[in-house]
Amino acid sequence: MLTNKRVVLIISGGIAAYKSLDLIRRLRERGASVHAIMTRGAREFVTPLAVGALTAQKVYTDLFDREAEQDVGHIRLARDYDLILIAPATADLMAKMVHGIADDLATAVLLASDKPVLIAPAMNPKMWDNPATRRNVETLHADGKHFIGPNRGEMAESGEAGVGRMAEPLEIAEAASKLLSGDADAGTRPLSGRHIVITSGPTHEPIDPVRYIANRSSGKQGHAIAAAAAEAGARVTLISGPVSIPDPQGVDVIHVETAVQMLDAVTSALPADVAVMAAAVADWRVASEGSQKIKKDGSGKPPALEMVENPDILATIGHHESLRPALLVGFAAETQNLIDNARSKLERKKADWIVANDVSPETGIMGGDANTVRIVSSDGIDAWPALNKSEVARRLVVRIAEALQADSQN
Ligand code: CTP
Repeated sequence: MLTNKRVVLIISGGIAAYKSLDLIRRLRERGASVHAIMTRGAREFVTPLAVGALTAQKVYTDLFDREAEQDVGHIRLARDYDLILIAPATADLMAKMVHGIADDLATAVLLASDKPVLIAPAMNPKMWDNPATRRNVETLHADGKHFIGPNRGEMAESGEAGVGRMAEPLEIAEAASKLLSGDADAGTRPLSGRHIVITSGPTHEPIDPVRYIANRSSGKQGHAIAAAAAEAGARVTLISGPVSIPDPQGVDVIHVETAVQMLDAVTSALPADVAVMAAAVADWRVASEGSQKIKKDGSGKPPALEMVENPDILATIGHHESLRPALLVGFAAETQNLIDNARSKLERKKADWIVANDVSPETGIMGGDANTVRIVSSDGIDAWPALNKSEVARRLVVRIAEALQADSQN
């Protein structure tokens, strides 16, 4: 509830501004008083008259509103309220926030305020995906701003599908009331109460006490997913192979070395609502590990290593009647036939989604910070642009939260 809470609602310019009218009603239904600030762009889409009729309050529009400025209006607006809610938030407004630009009333209030800020972005999916917006969102997160949405869907103006549609008024009002209910981040923690098991990194398969077989996985992607899931409120069990990056905060980490140990750790960590198998598990191990260092025997011939296949962790869980989580996500690291191979892994391993990426050396994905993925599921293929691994993680977590929510409503 928002009883007796005073909300400053900043409406910036975008077609989603029409949804702000409904949002005002939702906020007031919950007991809030709503004081709207409309940017110049917002006034192209909805009128101050309509907004004022719904808020039953004066609507603020200009920085130099003589009447309001008599008591230093923008400073007072920034101070006397419990929450600043920006809905819709355009890419432009977020960029200004990042740089501390204060060239109109909305941005001046934002700069002068130390109150919680909840941002409901709305924009074309290409603008949302643009690296400049990605950087800005990341900075705003780091500055402690809260986000709700954007959601996946069709854009009102272009019919284009993708992430960028403003969250629904009900969702925003709910997030605002959770944010102010003392449960500081509940509204923006869509995985609260969920358990998620994640594998990450390579496995090392010993040959003898000093040598092992390994691969180039850094663990960056799996660890980023664990961090994003924890940030979204999940209880996270991360089962990590040997990596040189630190454990993510707020996550239970189990360190393992081999594929067999990883499988054991995964089965012990289950049940969970979701499992994400991001580890690059070695497909084979040496049949019998030498108990002593293997020495050259002087013949000039290398030792013949007999290899056996490792258990497939994803497939084992996928086919397991009781341990299989409601949502099982695998990865497919490929150097050719990306989609075909991903589809066949989806089927063979009984996963719900495969996050497919091209790991040819020229992509620099293996060990690097960026990733270009496609989410392959029975519903089709979702191609994401090149993103850094933490943004891939955040998006995957949003998609997971949406899927769990849809599942619980069915
Ligand atoms: N995987 C697993 N256990 C294995 C091998 C793979 O759990 N022994 C999981 C990975 O964590 C990933 C998915 O299966 O989620 C696909 O991994 P990948 O290495 O791309 O596929 P493989 O099954 O090893 O097939 P191939 O090497 O033939 O491409």
